[in-house]
Amino acid sequence: MTIHAPEAGTSTRPASALFEVDRSAEIVAASFRDAADPRLRQILESLVTHLHAFVKDAAVTVDEWEAAIAFLTATGQKSDDVRQEFILLSDVLGVSMLVESLNNSAGGRLTEATVEGPFHMVASPVRELGADINVSGEPGEPCLVTGRVVDEDGAPVAGASVDVWQANANGFYDVQMPDEMPRGELRGLFTTDPDGRFHFRSIVPSHYPIPTDGPVGDLLRATGRHEFRPAHVHFEVSAPGMRTLTTHIFVKGSPYLESDAVFGVKESLIVDFVTVDDPDRAAAAGAPNPFRHADFPVVLHREDAP
Ligand code: BEZ
Ligand code: FE
Repeated sequence: MTIHAPEAGTSTRPASALFEVDRSAEIVAASFRDAADPRLRQILESLVTHLHAFVKDAAVTVDEWEAAIAFLTATGQKSDDVRQEFILLSDVLGVSMLVESLNNSAGGRLTEATVEGPFHMVASPVRELGADINVSGEPGEPCLVTGRVVDEDGAPVAGASVDVWQANANGFYDVQMPDEMPRGELRGLFTTDPDGRFHFRSIVPSHYPIPTDGPVGDLLRATGRHEFRPAHVHFEVSAPGMRTLTTHIFVKGSPYLESDAVFGVKESLIVDFVTVDDPDRAAAAGAPNPFRHADFPVVLHREDAP
């Protein structure tokens, strides 16, 4: 969205917009009436209306408003190229999940979306189908993840990108432990075969805490909320002409499925990582026997579909 500055002296805003508490939202919203971009104007008018209603409803004091500004300042200061505290804040407030859900209505046939989270800030290494994303042998239960990407009519999507990333068994992503985990560990970028299929090996992820060493952690502690996410593997699936899907698979039976700190769980995304005790299948998968197997069928939305 581009923010267009009006030329000096061209504003049509009435000069009599003196502040009144009772009409505060109306007066400030009207200040945006000359915005050249109608969507920008709509968003700012709505933001101001709800923000003023919130301040009035909660009877926010000056000290509280200053504390809120200090909190947001600290949130920005905690963010860098590998740490995004604002995403985390949006996540624990349920806003990421709301935006994701409103914009990716699954309509029953499509795979449901969930939050991207703050740990997708590095490119996943391109890997061959069947590769192990646990390249340096992080401890954990070996697993095979398989799936097939189709469109809403069931037609396979060949050549789709399947980008996956997950934490290790202690709940850390590579970017959180740069001295101990090589960049790209437990990440992979795969391309589906002509039948839309993908498969890769990894370890079964475990539940883990979101980072709590910043302002978001302070917020959780101050409100008695826990910081855990149920075990999951992240997916971003994309293909030309298809709507990109950002989602996870959650490990059936994991703790915290009912109380994810970021509200990301949807029933349809809980997948049974079944135990397979079959030397022939293990050999075919290149996995030790026994191993765990999760299958994740992915249905993408074709952009030009009705
Ligand atoms: C994650 O799953 O990587 C994540 C999502 C939201 C907040 C923190 C972490
Ligand atoms: Fe995660």
